[in-house]
Amino acid sequence: MHRLRYFVMLGGLLLLIGCAERTETTTSSEGAPLKPAQNRIGPNPDPELVKQGELVYNKQACGTCHMNPKSVIKAPDLKGLYMSQVALTDGTTLTADEDYLRTAIVEPNKHIVKGYQNMMPPYKQLSEKELDALIAYLISLK
Ligand code: HEC
Repeated sequence: MHRLRYFVMLGGLLLLIGCAERTETTTSSEGAPLKPAQNRIGPNPDPELVKQGELVYNKQACGTCHMNPKSVIKAPDLKGLYMSQVALTDGTTLTADEDYLRTAIVEPNKHIVKGYQNMMPPYKQLSEKELDALIAYLISLK
């Protein structure tokens, strides 16, 4: 008899947990919208994301041109780039925020850095996750 009561209680408990879980999923699926790309990562990126970004940087061989004294193609130094003022060939200046870095990787011919040639290939094949990690890595280069 006691055993039966125990099972009934356990059943009730499981039902409760089930409901709680269900409500939780509903709220998180309706949850806060993604922050705009603009400042999704922030000035102090998660070290884990930075590490992943370094792997993407190496895998994509960004260092063939960047920060490589042996490179045939002259490419800007990426250290300290984040939030700096970048002069462009069209005479304008932009702040190198996350949005700028994203565009610089995906559509490099949109803004050409003054003093450099339009020689960087577009990296449109990167996933959102890889891009975020890569941007976090660039932010960490101080
Ligand atoms: C073939 C050489 C080459 C490769 C490979 C390359 N880049 Fe570039 N990159 C350049 C050149 C040249 C420029 C300057 C011209 C321009 O603005 O497009 C540049 C510009 C940039 C800028 C803007 C720099 C500034 O001072 O504003 C960023 C950011 C950047 N590259 C990141 C990357 C990343 C990340 C990768 C790898 C996914 C990469 N690049 C791969 C040649 C390269």
